[in-house]
Amino acid sequence: MRIAVIGSGYVGLVSAVCFAEIGHNVISVDNDGLKIAALERGETPIHEQYLPELLARHKGERLLFSTSVPDAVRQSDVVFITVGTPQSQTGEADLSYVEAVAYEIATALAGSKVIVEKSTVPVRTCEWLHKSLTLNGAASGTFSVVSNPEFLREGSAVTDFLYPDRIVIGADDSASASVMQAVYKPLTSGSYYGEPARFPLESYRYAKAPMVVTNAKSAELIKHASNAFLAMKISFINAVANISEEVGADIQQVCAGIGSDSRIGSKFLNAGIGYGGSCFPKDVQAFRSVAEQCNYDFGLLTEVMRINSDQRVRFLKKIRSALWTLRGKQLGVLGLAFKADTDDVRESPALSIIEALVKEGAQLKVYDPAGMPNARKVLSAASVTYVDDEYETARGSDALLILTEWAEFAVLDFKRMRALLKYPIVIDGRNLYQPAAMAKAGFIYHSIGRASAHPAAESLPGVEYSAEPVPALRASNSAD
Ligand code: UGA
Repeated sequence: MRIAVIGSGYVGLVSAVCFAEIGHNVISVDNDGLKIAALERGETPIHEQYLPELLARHKGERLLFSTSVPDAVRQSDVVFITVGTPQSQTGEADLSYVEAVAYEIATALAGSKVIVEKSTVPVRTCEWLHKSLTLNGAASGTFSVVSNPEFLREGSAVTDFLYPDRIVIGADDSASASVMQAVYKPLTSGSYYGEPARFPLESYRYAKAPMVVTNAKSAELIKHASNAFLAMKISFINAVANISEEVGADIQQVCAGIGSDSRIGSKFLNAGIGYGGSCFPKDVQAFRSVAEQCNYDFGLLTEVMRINSDQRVRFLKKIRSALWTLRGKQLGVLGLAFKADTDDVRESPALSIIEALVKEGAQLKVYDPAGMPNARKVLSAASVTYVDDEYETARGSDALLILTEWAEFAVLDFKRMRALLKYPIVIDGRNLYQPAAMAKAGFIYHSIGRASAHPAAESLPGVEYSAEPVPALRASNSAD
């Protein structure tokens, strides 16, 4: 099948390489000529596992790049729209990029095409797209508009695409539903999983990808409702964590107890400093705006957002109560990205905490395995120093903060850390360590939803240090 993917951001680029991977001929389009030139050279603009390998595998063969929407549309049967839908000032999704693309598509529509909305959009966007295409000259009856929301997580987007929990198709006519079923057939029939060269080769076992076919509006709602539900799960557990702290319970034990109820499930129950990224904050707000337009007061979503921003404020209070005053203090900071395995710092809780600390006069030494180039673009305060590894953040610092759940932050050599830190204070916003083990290793350790741990008197500063490695919780504490 011939596919055009308009927009080469996270979703567009991953979708384009994955459509090529499952056998389609794909043209990936972006109006940023520099980005397209880089992609043609095989350079990936984002940090995403397996993307460079898949790009190298298909570039110049089943995967071509272009800056021309009309050319790509003319050469394709199915056109995916994957342009950005940023948040407008009022909290709604700004659909102006989608509308601009619709205009360009309309000028090139000839023959029968299926136009697929894959960007995260509010319900009724397919309806609007249809109207807009018609108003801009597309002959009615020659095209249909379908919703196909994506559920790709940054950091695991390629495997989320190829091994999905479900594929959702929202089509209002059976012909376009059939076209979409054909697009995904290699995954839904399972034929892709039998291929010896499938990606990422032998490590994934999978039979067939399930598909849910709905009408267009239901599919659009599924996307917003899914992200809002996951955000709600995170805010819920963060609220429970705050109570746990007060009463002396342990949030990880609580999660083990509630998560083992199959109706609840253990995923997305990691308490921390709140959700961030380019999706949850924007989508929860956009979904609330949709509800408002329907004259429905979805106050639950307001609470989800309130708890989420409050979580950062609470973490700042923890830092203050561990260190008393902040002016002139030096803090080591591990993590800038909004979560592990990505270089994305958009709406990162780590950045907003860092910004607040800078305002209060703290000096920061920061490190992130992938997020530093992006952080530098938005965080240029003179009081922030970017260093080359985890241990450099600790050198001479009054305390160490953990703000992103990178796996490598969960296996630190704390004997070395303690020797470098001025005071043995760790404030962990991602619960990567066991409080008791940290106390045994000589640290004053504060985390989320668990009692703070203090070392035995004999291991306080000034006393010869001897500690076993601190066992990390990472394996059981995965965010996914
Ligand atoms: C999210 C959804 O998970 C995807 O299904 C969806 O396709 C995507 O948004 C989107 O709409 O495009 P993503 O933003 O990449 O994906 O990140 P997540 O892995 O969902 O994490 C979001 C935030 O929640 C991160 O800040 C993470 O640290 C936080 N989180 C996650 C927690 O605080 N606790 C958890 O238990 C899980």
